[in-house]
Amino acid sequence: MEEEFYRIKRLPPYVIAEVNAMRHAARVEGRDIIDLGMGNPDLPPPPHVIDKLCEVARKPDAHGYSQSKGIPGLRRAQANYYERRFGVDLDPETEVVVTLGSKEGLATLASAITAPGDTILAPNPSYPIHTFGFIIAGASIRSVPTTPDEQYWDALEKAMRFTVPRPTILIVNYPSNPTAETVDLAFYERLVAWAKENKVWILSDLAYSELYYDGNPTPSILQVPGAKDVAVEFTSLSKTYSMAGWRMGFAVGNKKLIAALTRVKSYIDYGAFTPIQAAACAALNGPQEIVDTNRELYHKRRDVMIEAFGRAGWEIPAPKASMFAWAPLPPELVHMGSLEFSKELLTQAEVAVAPGVGYGEDGEGFVRIAMVENEQRLRQAARNVKRYLQSKGVNRVAA
Ligand SMILES: Cc1ncc(COP(=O)(O)O)c(C=O)c1O
Repeated sequence: MEEEFYRIKRLPPYVIAEVNAMRHAARVEGRDIIDLGMGNPDLPPPPHVIDKLCEVARKPDAHGYSQSKGIPGLRRAQANYYERRFGVDLDPETEVVVTLGSKEGLATLASAITAPGDTILAPNPSYPIHTFGFIIAGASIRSVPTTPDEQYWDALEKAMRFTVPRPTILIVNYPSNPTAETVDLAFYERLVAWAKENKVWILSDLAYSELYYDGNPTPSILQVPGAKDVAVEFTSLSKTYSMAGWRMGFAVGNKKLIAALTRVKSYIDYGAFTPIQAAACAALNGPQEIVDTNRELYHKRRDVMIEAFGRAGWEIPAPKASMFAWAPLPPELVHMGSLEFSKELLTQAEVAVAPGVGYGEDGEGFVRIAMVENEQRLRQAARNVKRYLQSKGVNRVAA
């Protein structure tokens, strides 16, 4: 009975939890922490979506078990979204499943299609479920880079040549959490061809489908003709409609993968609360102005943050998409490492960020900054950061 459980032994301490615990403790002490750590939207969902939730929740027959794979109307709404946004045709019966957030969908699909000992190709750094979903399912991870350049293709080739057993699944996530990198359709075209040649399934996480800036809409891998032969894609209402707590996401694409996910889900859950599914239909089918408004709002925050932090002496590349900036540690402070730097930023500047190393070893040297506070708070964060940097002897101030 002393031996740790097999799966628990494979889950290392969650590095980001250390910073979260410190943030919590600081708040309990009454300190005003500017929280740019978690990717938790600070904006409300559209009012008509909340109205629909309330309206349906008042119906006496809306409180029983729902359908594990999602009500038909919601699967149709998701298919319509793909048609409208990407020109992709999906069969709501066989190519769409509703998930309890995309995180649950990824984890359930991982457990459905992974055998113990399989090797999975996942980005490093990555959003944790991209690796741990598969580790929990008993697989091993071979890391690939996130930057979609020639080294990426090189890493894929090497992984296929030298990994035993041969990898069976590749995870991609663009716009990337945590690095905010993006790809174009040509990247996906090459990826689909590569996957077919190498007999590898592709799982694409498109959680930030609508948070793109500078007028450059994010593509879907399913826009590539024939992508459905090898790929599924996950999307989410969490960021698009600021509905993170509602736990509403989707997987769409390859029928065999969707059937596997649907089947395992049917053993585990009864689907989301029906009023939430009805409200999700309202979000997808209703007026979409809020999506544009929120995109502009994050865009503005991005510009404010990059400018204010730059003036404070911390040069951060402007992300092209997502709600994050992936910030290299100021060169003078790289020796601290991202965890120590994040802790000091919290205790000395009262600004919470996420240490890059929490997303994998290749995230070391960076922190992830979430744009989930308003412009005024972002400017305040920059002033605090400036004081902190000066206290560390970093006195660079932009001209
Ligand atoms: C890349 C990525 N995928 C998935 C998720 C999980 O989203 P959901 O709320 O749909 O589970 C997140 C949340 O931050 C994310 O950043």
